[in-house]
Amino acid sequence: MREQEKTTTFDRLNSIDCAPQAFKSFIMFLENGQYQLHGGVDPLSLCQQYGAPLYVYDAAIIKRQYDRIRNAFSVPDLQIMYACKALSNINILRYMRQLGAGLDTVSIQEVELGLKAGFTASEIIYTPNCVSIDEIAEAVALGVKINIDNTSVLEQFGQMFPDYPVCLRINPHILAGLNAKTSVGHIDSKFGISFHQMPLVQRIIKVTGTKIIGVHMHTGSGILDPDVFLQGAEILFNIAAEFPNLEYLDFGSGFKVPYRQGDAETDIEELGQKISKRFKDFCKEIGRDLTLMFEPGKFLVSEAGSFLVKVNVVKQTTSTVFAGIDSGLNHLIRPMFYDAYHEISNVSNPEGKKRFYTVVGYICETDTFGINRKIGEIKEGDTLCIHNAGAYCFSMASNYNSRFRPPEVFVLDGQAHLIRERETMEDLLKGQIQLPIFSNAKAEVEHG
Ligand SMILES: Cc1ncc(COP(=O)(O)O)c(C=O)c1O
Repeated sequence: MREQEKTTTFDRLNSIDCAPQAFKSFIMFLENGQYQLHGGVDPLSLCQQYGAPLYVYDAAIIKRQYDRIRNAFSVPDLQIMYACKALSNINILRYMRQLGAGLDTVSIQEVELGLKAGFTASEIIYTPNCVSIDEIAEAVALGVKINIDNTSVLEQFGQMFPDYPVCLRINPHILAGLNAKTSVGHIDSKFGISFHQMPLVQRIIKVTGTKIIGVHMHTGSGILDPDVFLQGAEILFNIAAEFPNLEYLDFGSGFKVPYRQGDAETDIEELGQKISKRFKDFCKEIGRDLTLMFEPGKFLVSEAGSFLVKVNVVKQTTSTVFAGIDSGLNHLIRPMFYDAYHEISNVSNPEGKKRFYTVVGYICETDTFGINRKIGEIKEGDTLCIHNAGAYCFSMASNYNSRFRPPEVFVLDGQAHLIRERETMEDLLKGQIQLPIFSNAKAEVEHG
């Protein structure tokens, strides 16, 4: 009966306009006319408790996505390295480790965060781009796996650390992904060592003695077609065959997730079948079992995140009805930065009559979350949910306009936990050095 009720609820959710029909499961369900998170958590009461704007992440969705990848690939050794740039709260990192993931990092700070979260050095891969050789030396001192994406760095590295084995990030010259800003495996991209440069790589490692233990690629974000991954994989197989000490192949990430009604996602099950078969054949060809790695970020956490915001004003102009919210591109930059689409629904009025709104933020420039969206009728004070706010949302948030960054809540087994406090004026001033020369002005401010 309970199961039946759930299906009915989900069907109802899918039947209203603001619910993305393509989503196999959606983070919020309608229960007795009210939105609820998995495990029966009420987003409105979360806002009452912690205030808005508020980021909420649901562990059940992260686990579902993690299990989907794990089950899709049937190879003897699969390692899922969570790309922590997507969402880097230390509790999320610890949860990923509990699920069995390793960590993909791109800065020495992410490496350090990973170690603080409890990952061992060997569970972390560091894939820097255009960082100083000094930063790479710090990663050596910490003992993590290192990915080199430049022949000049390979040469310097080999002379400094001849005994430290590395992985090569290959540029496969594949133009893939949804957005030019995240398409990183093409010929004009700054990332990776071109697969045409293998003769130079061989010359360098012959002289330095560097052992190559991994080969890696990452071509972009939001890649729908499994064949794009296979095309890249073939390039990596060709290169991998040249390195007798190889231990792993890392196919990066870029799995597409649905953001809007009718959106498709990467068919991870089809991808898993195709890659697993080809990977096992390759291991047979070279006579050794290698580890297969992926570095998903968005696929693991995007759908798990909801961004809850309050409507400050409803403003009708000559051409538009704006819903102005208590947030902006400072908290969630993807729509303005990537033209990304995020579904928006009115949590306060889920079953209300649908009206058209352009949802905008409070930042002092064009700051649009969604244009002409059909949303349950909005009143000032209502709470809206911006969906798919788990990946590249909080982690890209800033203090622009001197606004505080919002708190984060993590829902685990139906229990909500505060995992980051709302910032305060002290946080804004932290690290700023107030010059004594202005001390009178400071005193005036302090004493009115
Ligand atoms: C090297 C590397 N690996 C993995 C990822 C994660 O990609 P996605 O979030 O699309 O899964 C990124 C994203 O930028 C990346 O640069």
